[in-house]
Amino acid sequence: MIDCLVLHGPNLNMLGMREPEIYGAQTLGDIDAALQTKAGHLKLHIDTFQSNDDGELITAIQNAVHPSARSTARSILINAAAFTHTSVDVRDALAIFDGPKVEVHLSKNFKREAFRQISLISPVCDGSIVGFGMNSYLLGLQAIHSLLAERHKAE
Ligand code: DQA
Repeated sequence: MIDCLVLHGPNLNMLGMREPEIYGAQTLGDIDAALQTKAGHLKLHIDTFQSNDDGELITAIQNAVHPSARSTARSILINAAAFTHTSVDVRDALAIFDGPKVEVHLSKNFKREAFRQISLISPVCDGSIVGFGMNSYLLGLQAIHSLLAERHKAE
């Protein structure tokens, strides 16, 4: 069982060359490496996965739920990227997952186009961290750590 499954949605594999004035200069590899370092400090075991396909993200979420799956996870940190605004199916998969869930975004969606100001996944997550670039992910992992600790205390 891993502590946190980190999911990256479509086009995030293009970070570094994708609209750097909005998303920054760091690559997805940089973000994953920073997350692994932070996870080490927090003593969390994390897995990271990116897909441009909503079906693959849904399967990863479903595997996190299944007690028999090798990729079972205690929590989910997700940047669903454009699927945030469009995908009822990703939202419904997240709703099945019972552990802590934190939504993150690099950019400040609320200051951008109207269609980015709606998140279909926010209502099924414990919280959202937006607008801090790569730090959104690191703050998100910190939030996951706190949520897992709270659950552990309550058990
Ligand atoms: C994003 C914001 C989304 O609106 C956009 O479609 C992305 C990236 C972000 O991290 O800022 O792909 O999720």
